[in-house]
Amino acid sequence: MSTTILISGGRIIDPGQGIDEVADLLITKGKIAWIGDKGKAPSQPDLTTIDATGLIVCPGFIDLHCHLREPGFEDKETIATGTKAAARGGFTTICCMPNTNPPLDTQSSIDYVKKAAEVEGAVQVLPIGCVTKGRQGKEITEMSELAKAGAIGFSDDGEPVASSRIMSLAMDYSQASGLPIIDHCEDQELSDGGFMNDGWVSARLGLKGIPKVAEEITVARDLALAQLTNARLHIAHVSTADSVELIRQAKDKGTTVTAEVTPHHLTLTEERVMGSKLEEHNQLTYDTNAKVNPPLRNKEDIAALIKGLKDGTIDAIATDHAPHTLVDKMCEFGLAAFGISGLETALACLMSLVHSDQLDLNTLISKLTSEPARIIGTRYGELGTLKPGCRADVALFDPNKEWTVSSLDFASKGRNTPFDGCHLKGNVMITIVGGKIVYKLNSK
Ligand code: DOR
Repeated sequence: MSTTILISGGRIIDPGQGIDEVADLLITKGKIAWIGDKGKAPSQPDLTTIDATGLIVCPGFIDLHCHLREPGFEDKETIATGTKAAARGGFTTICCMPNTNPPLDTQSSIDYVKKAAEVEGAVQVLPIGCVTKGRQGKEITEMSELAKAGAIGFSDDGEPVASSRIMSLAMDYSQASGLPIIDHCEDQELSDGGFMNDGWVSARLGLKGIPKVAEEITVARDLALAQLTNARLHIAHVSTADSVELIRQAKDKGTTVTAEVTPHHLTLTEERVMGSKLEEHNQLTYDTNAKVNPPLRNKEDIAALIKGLKDGTIDAIATDHAPHTLVDKMCEFGLAAFGISGLETALACLMSLVHSDQLDLNTLISKLTSEPARIIGTRYGELGTLKPGCRADVALFDPNKEWTVSSLDFASKGRNTPFDGCHLKGNVMITIVGGKIVYKLNSK
């Protein structure tokens, strides 16, 4: 049951509305009812007041890209545990990728995720349907049916659509629904079974590298196809400086493209594969928790990704939360699964960019709220805003609260994080979905 909540004295930042002020926010009947001067809210019976002094109050975060693993891989994550992790991370809406078993390539599989999320989900879950049946890259799914069932886009994420012809057809068909193709850009002939960025670290560790061009060549191909077909294209997990430049040029030409970047690609470099402790760099060790696809790159790439966020080339930040079991990761590097469990560390890790003056707070919040909301559109109501009348999805965070990441405390089943043991600054205190408090720090 939703309650009447007054969030008092916080710094309200709602980039979509251009709001950045210390004010009060009133929630009634699950909706944003009022924003105004402190102490001036219309009086309400049975009011719960949250003292938000010193906190940022913003629209709940929206994650365009996460893996909930259900159905089929419930040992890695479930809709219940993944959405709980999302709530802890300040996320109120998450879009889940279809690389499940069975994959989300039929109306009934989309229905399953939506229904399970309604029953078990702590936050709103919006499913993404497959581009091709079984994610096999051969036959296009019934896209209009998937859209009717509630998919917010199409992706074979984890795998690229290798054939240019199939991708071109998929772009044509996707237009009937107006939904984007969410593109995992990888030329697998070039990545060729590699495990990490192709560079000095891969050479030193003797691990097969993935060249940057494996991503960039597919980005270039699909930008050209999007221009040809006029389809909506969304480039997932951009990781290289040249990909950013390609997207920038395509946007300048008017191509209907959007793009996302992950917190880990914005904050970690390929050196992290050698382990977190400096002294370990003198030994030939590796940490499979830093194995992710696309791989962690260099500082020049990070600088370009941040520049891309600032100038609007990159629209959104998405976690690519990819939980795995201990067994999936406690093995030799080549055999370990790709992926990072990212929902619970996203904000704190991104706040390091704000604290080091690389990104301003309003831009960061826009990339987690109004910008992903724009990409999803309004079929699920107006998201990513604190506009009166909209669903009360709100995140409250302390930008300066310091904490140490302990993966054992995660709500996610996936403890696979390269941030384990890291001391971070910035923590989610309360998450509200539809007027209901779904997470409060220290109340399990
Ligand atoms: O690292 C990754 N893990 N990249 C992907 O594209 C897929 C994901 C997964 O599903 O584990």
